[in-house]
Order: sequence, then structure tokens, then C-alpha cells
Amino acid sequence: MTTIKNNLFSRSNAKKLHYFSGLTLAVFIAFHLFNQLYSLAGPAAHIEMMETFRKLYRHPVLETLLMVAVSFQLITGISMLFNKRKKNRIEKLQIYSGLYLSYFLLAHVAAVLYGRYLQLDTNFNFAAAGLNDDPAMLYFIPYYFFAVLAIFLHVAAIHYLKTGSALVAWIIGSIGVLVAIGIIIGYTDSFHFRKVPAEYLQFVRAFFGGS
Ligand code: HEM
Repeated sequence: MTTIKNNLFSRSNAKKLHYFSGLTLAVFIAFHLFNQLYSLAGPAAHIEMMETFRKLYRHPVLETLLMVAVSFQLITGISMLFNKRKKNRIEKLQIYSGLYLSYFLLAHVAAVLYGRYLQLDTNFNFAAAGLNDDPAMLYFIPYYFFAVLAIFLHVAAIHYLKTGSALVAWIIGSIGVLVAIGIIIGYTDSFHFRKVPAEYLQFVRAFFGGS
């Protein structure tokens, strides 16, 4: 029994599961980040695109699959942290970006599910409230910026470890910086800061204060 258990949660199984849940998540994240970048075209265009994408990822089967992938990604990622082997710089980058992503995914998905539980439409305005209201923006601007960057750095590190191509890894990382900046600019209207409907501000202010 113990052997079966040990085998199921062995390092190589965790690695395989992490890889496959990562691939599933990557498909969602690619569409999701494209949608977030579309904030550059304004809230209405962003919301219209999200409503189209929702037809897919809010389908009960696909949303369940997405939530299973999120859970596997977190559990297998954290279980692999306990591997004591000495890590090189790139492996450390993969680990630290993954650690931040674990924190972000947990907080982000919990916030979205809680918002939905409170009957809020978790659209553009839901994220915009945190990014445009003072003082919540002091937390949410770096929170989202580093989440987007961490995705690209995590992928860049994996790509480098698999292929040894520093050039491609740098390109992936640089695209990450541009996408992260683009999303923040789109959401904040180039730091002119957007007006957000009152019900969303109320949600953010319940946690972060402000008036
Ligand atoms: C600046 C970056 C991001 C913003 C502004 C953002 C915003 C949002 C919003 C508004 C929703 C609700 C979607 C809906 O109601 O249909 C959402 C859902 C979600 N986001 Fe993000 N997100 C960002 C980055 C990320 C990243 C980097 C990940 C993954 C690591 C991620 C994973 C998810 C997941 C798993 C959901 C739940 C989808 C569902 O409703 O089933 N997001 N995000």
C-alpha cells in the first residue's frame, strides 16, 4: 500500500502531472492574457471578447477541467519544492516564478469565485477596481504585473533548461515584460486611472480600504 502511494506521488509522477496540468492551463492562459491585453482597446471591447471566451471556459466540463488543472498545478508544484538537490540559477528562476504563480493563482481564483458568489459579474471591472482605486492599486499593479511576468519567466526558464537556447529564453522573457506593461497600461488607461462602477469599488474597498 505504502509503495503504491509512494509511486503515485513519486517525484517523476509529480513532474509528469505538473507538465500536463501546465499544458492544459497554458491553453487557457494564452487566451486569457490575450483578453487582458485587449484592455488596450477599452473596457467594452475587452468585455465583448471575454463574453465570447466565456462560452468555452465557463462550460461546466471545461471549467471543471480548468479548476482540476489549477489544483494539480499547485499541489504538484509545491510537492516538487521539497527536492533537496542543489539548483542552478535558471532552476531557481523556475522555482521562484512558480512560487509566485502558486500564490497568485490561489488568490486570483479565490477572488474570482468569491466575486461570483456575491453575484458580481467578474468582468473587466472586477480587475479594474483593484488596479484603479487608491490605495488598492499599490497592491494590485505589482500583483498583476509580476503574475504576467512570472508566467513568461517560468516558460523561459523551462525552455532554456530543455533546449539551452538563451536567445529564445530572453525573447520569451522580454515579451513577458511588454505584455505585463501593456496590460497595466490598458487597465489603468495609461495611468490616467479609470472610473469603475460602485459595486466593484465596494468589493475592493472591503479588503483594501479607500473612499
Ligand atoms: C493582468 C493579468 C490578469 C487579469 C487582469 C486577470 C483577470 C481575470 C478576470 C477578470 C477573471 C474572471 C473571468 C470571468 O469572469 O470570466 C479571471 C479569471 C481567471 N484567471 Fe485571470 N487575470 C490575469 C492573469 C491571470 C493569470 C496570469 C492566470 C494564471 C496563472 C490567471 C488565471 C485565471 C483563472 C484560472 C481564472 C478563472 C476562470 C474561470 O472563471 O473559470 N489569470 N482573471
